[in-house]
Amino acid sequence: MKIQAGIIGTGFIGPVHIGALRRLANIHVRALADDGDETSEKKALELGVDRWYGDYREMLRDDQLQVVHVCTPNHLHYEATKAALEAGKHVICEKPLAMSVAEAEELTELAQTKGLINVINFNIRYYPLIRQLRTMVDRGDMGRIFSIHGSFLQDWLYYDTDYNWRLESSLSGESRAVADIGSHWMDLVEYVSGIEIVEVFADFATMHKTRKKPKKPVETFSNVLLKPEDYVEIPIDTEDYATMLFRFKDGERGVLTVSQVSAGRKCRLYFELDGSKQSAAWDSESPNQLWLGHRDRSNEILLKDPSLSYPEAAQLMTIPAGHNEGFHDACRALCKEVCADVQQGRPSEKPLYPTFRDGLREMRIIEKIIESNNRRSWVAI
Ligand SMILES: NC(=O)c1ccc[n+]([C@@H]2O[C@H](COP(=O)([O-])OP(=O)(O)OC[C@H]3O[C@@H](n4cnc5c(N)ncnc54)[C@H](O)[C@@H]3O)[C@@H](O)[C@H]2O)c1
Repeated sequence: MKIQAGIIGTGFIGPVHIGALRRLANIHVRALADDGDETSEKKALELGVDRWYGDYREMLRDDQLQVVHVCTPNHLHYEATKAALEAGKHVICEKPLAMSVAEAEELTELAQTKGLINVINFNIRYYPLIRQLRTMVDRGDMGRIFSIHGSFLQDWLYYDTDYNWRLESSLSGESRAVADIGSHWMDLVEYVSGIEIVEVFADFATMHKTRKKPKKPVETFSNVLLKPEDYVEIPIDTEDYATMLFRFKDGERGVLTVSQVSAGRKCRLYFELDGSKQSAAWDSESPNQLWLGHRDRSNEILLKDPSLSYPEAAQLMTIPAGHNEGFHDACRALCKEVCADVQQGRPSEKPLYPTFRDGLREMRIIEKIIESNNRRSWVAI
């Protein structure tokens, strides 16, 4: 029988998980749960899912369900993940793992004690050329790493009329831009380079001190323009922008700028990794190209091509060279590796996919970044 999966939360990212699972042979999307009966039924019809629940706790009583994907706003990750683990389900949780380090520690420990598969969806790791670069670092192609620098920029919160639950710290967390998008960047560069951030110095800014909150809910990334009668003005207590300096384990240096108010940058994660043999650069908005920089010969652009890539990267490529792979494919590739473990009923010794430990690590780094911004000084991780 196929693995039976259930999805909690079906806004933007929930349907991406559903699409990813549907492109795998050995898993079936059995049920979904959203916020209340009416929304859940509507979403089940739209997404073609047979069973729906207005309360995820009821879904978790289904004995057939083996794996649960937590795709709700951040404040519900802890309670939904905990309930799923207690019900004996494997969990793929969206980032961030929880709202605090203490909650993330508890979930990591619970999953470990129960022997359940636990995954945090740092899906950007699963672009094939990211795996290629990681393999290049492993094989020594980049040489010694000098520095890693870049940005993660968006413009969907550019206007003070742009609104989403992420702007409310009670639903999203104490940090916004850093936790929401900076976490992806930091996870990615640590994953690719194999070196850990050990110290941070952060500087936050909030460009819109107040924003116009719509009187009715607005879905993520829906670009709705509001009229004065549609909103109320509320104060904002999280950052639109942050720059962070990093020191890595062996003295390597790094810098990251995140912003959700950079006009024209839609959702652009960019980094450059400078090594003693060559440099490499990758841009999430052109994910099928890897730039390689040289001092003594022409620079190169490696286009995604299984025949020109290391086997570790080629096995993530589902279509031939010249055909682009994107966000949906990265999520599918992550789910595929997780499914192999779900099939055997327990986590493998050293899973390739990101686990709750990685989610917990990001929570710890973010906590120190917030401390650094408050103290205006370097803080050790
Ligand atoms: N890994 C990624 O690339 C990525 C991308 C986007 C979002 N995310 C993460 O995914 C999560 C969801 O983000 P989104 O952009 O999809 O948000 P969203 O607002 O579009 O969707 C959230 C969904 O959760 C539902 N929900 C709210 N309360 C619920 C409850 N009590 N029970 C069940 N469902 C409930 C909402 O009705 C909605 O359908 C966030 O934690 C975010 O950080 C990750």
